[in-house]
Amino acid sequence: MQTIGKLEVLRKRVADLRESGKTVALVPTMGALHDGHLTLMRRAREAADHVVASIFVNPRQFGEGEDLDAYPRQLQRDSELLEAEGVALLWAPQPDEVYPTGYATNISVAGVSEGLCGGDRPGHFDGVATVVCKLFNQVLPDMAFFGEKDWQQLAVIRRMARDLDLTRPHVEAIIGVPIVREDDGLAMSSRNSYLSAEQRAQAAALPKAMRDAIAVIAQGGAVGRPLGNLREVLQVSGFDSVDYAEVRDADSLERLEADNGNARLFVAARIGGTRLIDNMAIHAQ
Ligand code: PAJ
Repeated sequence: MQTIGKLEVLRKRVADLRESGKTVALVPTMGALHDGHLTLMRRAREAADHVVASIFVNPRQFGEGEDLDAYPRQLQRDSELLEAEGVALLWAPQPDEVYPTGYATNISVAGVSEGLCGGDRPGHFDGVATVVCKLFNQVLPDMAFFGEKDWQQLAVIRRMARDLDLTRPHVEAIIGVPIVREDDGLAMSSRNSYLSAEQRAQAAALPKAMRDAIAVIAQGGAVGRPLGNLREVLQVSGFDSVDYAEVRDADSLERLEADNGNARLFVAARIGGTRLIDNMAIHAQ
């Protein structure tokens, strides 16, 4: 595996990989890799001849007062993990390679970016859409893999790819991969490393409370009461606040007052300074 920091080198190496019609999959990340990320690499390896992974802690998707500086950076360890997964190229540029002096363009996806994390983190999805569009143009992959852990992000990227014609010929498919969880149900996340041992134990209340709420929501009726219960359970379990707890249509992300058969539960909650997000289908797929 080769680690690359300059765009002109990346373009040459990807062109080499493509020789004799080989396919290339892109897996974008911000590093501090865990088994969720590595599962994306494995799915990509199965689907394409070569995998290009990227590690870039994208400043444009962090708001003021967020954890840009604290975000874990461990490139050496990450590159060993990627090498072991059979990744061909690691694209790990510095911020000024991605956003050189004079950079002025922003991509903003209306509709699906609004509410949920878009409501709590203004400008976040503009930053995500902008960097992912650039990554697609830099790598020109046949397909790209994203986790359902960030369901709204996946919806934003799919919308952008359709709207900006990124899906053909360059990116034929945007593939979503189910959430990888710890044994106690907590969704794996690079941000889990911020939790103390006590907070980490308390965090398991999140997926459990979500499963309990889903059992009620799936029976029909208004979602207000189960969502209210979920908020209460989280507060007594050690969470400091709940940013949102909502049921939305899985595709349109339209907010729902009752299950429509295609609904998902979305929650963001904080323990100490750490913000955890999760989402689950109301009906198993
Ligand atoms: P990051 O948080 O590093 O996540 C990289 C990819 O891994 C995303 O597609 C995310 O959904 C997926 N992922 C994270 N945890 C997962 C889990 N437990 N199970 C399954 N997939 C998981 O998301 C980003 O980076 C950035 O916003 C990025 C898309 C790279 C743009 O900067």
